[in-house]
Amino acid sequence: VEIEVAAAEWELTGHQHYMYKEIQEQPEKAAAVIGGRLDDRFATARLNGLNLAPRELRAFRRVKLLGCGSAYYVGQIGAQLIEDLARIPADAEAASEFRYRNPIIEPDTLYVVVSQSGETADTAFAVQEIKRKGGQVIGVVNAVGSTIAREVDGGIYLHAGPEIAVASTKALTNMAIAFAMLALHLGRLRDLSVADGERILTAIKRLPEQIRDILDDEAHIAQVATTLAKAENAFYIGRVRQYPVAREGAQKLKEISYIHAEAYPTSELKHGPLALIEPKLLTVAIVPQDDLTERNLAAVQQVQARRGPVVAITHADVDFGDLDVERIIVPKSEPELDPILLTIPTQLLAYHAALALGHDIDKPRNLAKSVTVE
Ligand code: AGP
Repeated sequence: VEIEVAAAEWELTGHQHYMYKEIQEQPEKAAAVIGGRLDDRFATARLNGLNLAPRELRAFRRVKLLGCGSAYYVGQIGAQLIEDLARIPADAEAASEFRYRNPIIEPDTLYVVVSQSGETADTAFAVQEIKRKGGQVIGVVNAVGSTIAREVDGGIYLHAGPEIAVASTKALTNMAIAFAMLALHLGRLRDLSVADGERILTAIKRLPEQIRDILDDEAHIAQVATTLAKAENAFYIGRVRQYPVAREGAQKLKEISYIHAEAYPTSELKHGPLALIEPKLLTVAIVPQDDLTERNLAAVQQVQARRGPVVAITHADVDFGDLDVERIIVPKSEPELDPILLTIPTQLLAYHAALALGHDIDKPRNLAKSVTVE
């Protein structure tokens, strides 16, 4: 029976594209990465695969996340989660840059490499460089037994199942959920209160069903994507926690629709890119309900004042007033976890834009699923 189940994981099972199948699998795969890893009693996460004792985990004074492409962008979500919940300085860097710049490896930094395939050459090289210089490195990896999984000192497997489409979806979602659990674990070893631990733990448990709710809105998102498909250029904008969401959204659109898309921190618009706003440049704005909503709405207003069309990925309670914005509503989570859900519609937007344009969705031009060569 196990062999049959494993084979089905590799098949299209009636779907038109692997990317679509993988998007649809997310509620189930999100539940799989969470499964058995939450500890209600102590309001924390149980991550035995890290192979690091509490005393060792408490000694780290910095966390550095490394990955390539989308894994790097999700690493930025992870860095923010770790800073928010554990209050440990954290940042993400492209492994492809890190390896070429003679990086300083510090003994009190926890290095976290992130990879779906576990075979990305730049990321694997970063692991070797860190280990050669005596650093401590763990992996957040999907492919069991892959090169990176074998070389790291410990880590978290993503349990997303095989991912075939070049454009990554379910593995990225599970990376972000794994970071939420890692941040919760690190936080509860430090100063995160039981009440805050419970708040995050409860919100993590709800993610699979909330992802399902977003996927249920597919018909509407597909219709918005037909507008996106007509655009010549797109901006994706998001502020602070939402900037990596914008980067990932733009990346997905570029990869499979070939529409030129750039991501900017919302606050950077007025420092340059605003000059490009015109009716053929569509802006996808990430506008969550949080303490920055008013500032984000002001930016949307500035785009509209220059006749730029806007699609907002947002929460139900955000009041857009007179602004003429096409809204995609996602369920609200806790602010720290909102980026995980706000990313999901960007997958469907890219998928349906590429479908409308008639592109080869699973095998976009010029790209390989994993970049194993220099
Ligand atoms: C994602 O849609 C891209 N195809 C790409 O950026 C990818 O995430 C990157 O190459 C890293 O791959 P990995 O996770 O297998 O290491």
